[in-house]
Amino acid sequence: MALVNENYLKLPGSYLFSEIAKRVEAFKTANPEAEIIRLGIGDVTKPLVPTVVKAMHDAVDEMSVAASFRGYGPEQGYRFLIDQIIENDFRPRGVELEFDEVFVSDGSKSDCGNIGDILGIDNTVAVMDPVYPVYIDTNVMAGRAGSLNEMGYWNNLVYIPCTAENNFVPSLPDKRVDVIYLCFPNNPTGTTLTKDQLKQWVDYALDNQAIILFDAAYEAFITEEDVPHSIYEIEGAKECAIEFRSFSKTAGFTGTRCAYTVVPKQLMAYTAEGAPVSLNKLWNRRQCTKFNGVPYVIQRAAEAVYSEEGKRQVKEVVAYYLENAKLIREGLKEQGLSVVGGVNSPYIWLKTPEGMSSWDFFDFMLTKLNIVGTPGSGFGPSGEGYFRLTAFGTRENCLAAIERIKGAKF
Ligand code: MLT
Repeated sequence: MALVNENYLKLPGSYLFSEIAKRVEAFKTANPEAEIIRLGIGDVTKPLVPTVVKAMHDAVDEMSVAASFRGYGPEQGYRFLIDQIIENDFRPRGVELEFDEVFVSDGSKSDCGNIGDILGIDNTVAVMDPVYPVYIDTNVMAGRAGSLNEMGYWNNLVYIPCTAENNFVPSLPDKRVDVIYLCFPNNPTGTTLTKDQLKQWVDYALDNQAIILFDAAYEAFITEEDVPHSIYEIEGAKECAIEFRSFSKTAGFTGTRCAYTVVPKQLMAYTAEGAPVSLNKLWNRRQCTKFNGVPYVIQRAAEAVYSEEGKRQVKEVVAYYLENAKLIREGLKEQGLSVVGGVNSPYIWLKTPEGMSSWDFFDFMLTKLNIVGTPGSGFGPSGEGYFRLTAFGTRENCLAAIERIKGAKF
């Protein structure tokens, strides 16, 4: 008799964004004439920039000729891309990395989930609340989360509120934890930490031999000074942090798939007997066994993001989304809504009006205004009473959404 991984049976019905898609589809089927504006999942709408497209075409041509055809590539990624990553994303910020500390992958979502493979099952894991659901769901799957109580909390996870009450600056945990997920700029709230605030987490991790899993997928949207782009800008972080970066939101690769994860060689975790083990070695071992690398064509496309033209074109796209974010943020504020995010992030986090629950507000927005957003409670109990909009729509749709909201009676 084949047994299932019963941890999966503990997971709530479906993944947040699948649930939303299902509800929107049902509404669309019942109301085919409705002009739905989708500002729910953080998926980009602008096409790949010309420099990236050209690099992809060129790479396809290379693959069509025996002399330049490539089969399996290095599981860790091609050196031509890794060198550009180090040279452009880290060196200018004073961070030196070796090429074998960077692992190219098919997405930060996969890496944030897969990283659990190399971490012990008995680690106590801390997450922000609200939080990107992948961190929690993958720990449930692995058996680290325990069981879900009626308040919506997993009893083995440590929740750290990141709410209006603490001005979206999470406090250090009041009990010892081993693994900490941090996402800054934050998904879903769109808020950030300053260097000093992030340093407190690095210091905590160093003091407690804990590991920070730092998700920096939205780094390209940082506009303000004093907001760290990489956790390695903080002294000591190489001894306690893994960083996840993605081309998805930076360069429109949500459908193309390319990301990378940095696992410094200094970073150790421990056996039950207390012997240090290099996580870089373990992650390399894991990737070589379970992953065969990102397609050559895609890595050439990602490399083009770092060319002079590529950088300029990608920056323009990010600026376009940031302008959307500003329009949404200001439009909501004019309606008297309480809003954070959208300054260093493509996400705008708003308090639902009239004390509506997140899902009631979702239904109101969908059925009355034909706008799709994401209910805050889908990101955790502290997200209740909040709602997330993304700035990744077209300008036209963002403006139309604001017009609809302006005319709304909540
Ligand atoms: C989101 O909407 O939170 C993101 O699109 C999810 C993701 O990047 O996987």
